[in-house]
Amino acid sequence: MTTQSANTQTDQGYAKPIRIFHSIFALCMITQLAIGELMDVPEVEEGHKASISWITPAVAHESHGIKQMGPVEETLGFEVHEYLGLTIAALLVIRIILAMTSLPGANWRQLFPWLFAAGRKQLGDEIKLQMAGWKSMKLAPPEDGEAVARSVHGFIMLASVIMAITGTLLYFGWSITAPQTMLVELIAEVHELTVGMLEALLGAHILAVILHQYQGHHIIDRIKPSA
Ligand code: HEM
Repeated sequence: MTTQSANTQTDQGYAKPIRIFHSIFALCMITQLAIGELMDVPEVEEGHKASISWITPAVAHESHGIKQMGPVEETLGFEVHEYLGLTIAALLVIRIILAMTSLPGANWRQLFPWLFAAGRKQLGDEIKLQMAGWKSMKLAPPEDGEAVARSVHGFIMLASVIMAITGTLLYFGWSITAPQTMLVELIAEVHELTVGMLEALLGAHILAVILHQYQGHHIIDRIKPSA
């Protein structure tokens, strides 16, 4: 990350497509995280495995005298979660395409400064200079360096991509007629763990936005679609 590319973002804020993307993405993500916390997940209990894992329910019912288990009912919350999740996955594909352009604030290099020697140096310098301020909830304005903020945005994107990939796999793999396989259970664990990390990052993101605004840095002007 060169000083020049960092300045480009500071001077121009974010390109219009990124601003529009941010509004739609933030709305979808906040809704999705809330639904994810509140919904009931349809699951078949472990004890029913033998009767339905190797004989289809219809066959089991007719010829073996085993009580048929109908599919567990999907709640509205779970269905909304599934389709909103697929929408978020599609939005992320759009953001990945934008990350390959040189639109202001869009390029992937700006989201991952720590991948480059110059970016790592800038990160180190910012942390050294600004740490004392952070301890008293004071944030430096974007003109004084954005490597830390951009890294947080990058981790939000990374966590969102992991969440979307695992969520899409769960969409195709989650069973409502039999207990989950070990692999699906593992993917679900990664999905939940990522959600926890994402919530922590978002908490930090939103707190930073509030502090910046409060300290007069007007950063919302840089991202709002109407500006
Ligand atoms: C109340 C909600 C939110 C507010 C007020 C807000 C505000 C902002 C602001 C002001 C910036 C620009 C920071 C800068 O000056 O560099 C920004 C960037 C960003 N925000 Fe948010 N944000 C919110 C929610 C979210 C959510 C829910 C996500 C993701 C799940 C998110 C992800 C990002 C990302 C990734 C960027 C960098 C732009 C990009 O590369 O696409 N934000 N946000």
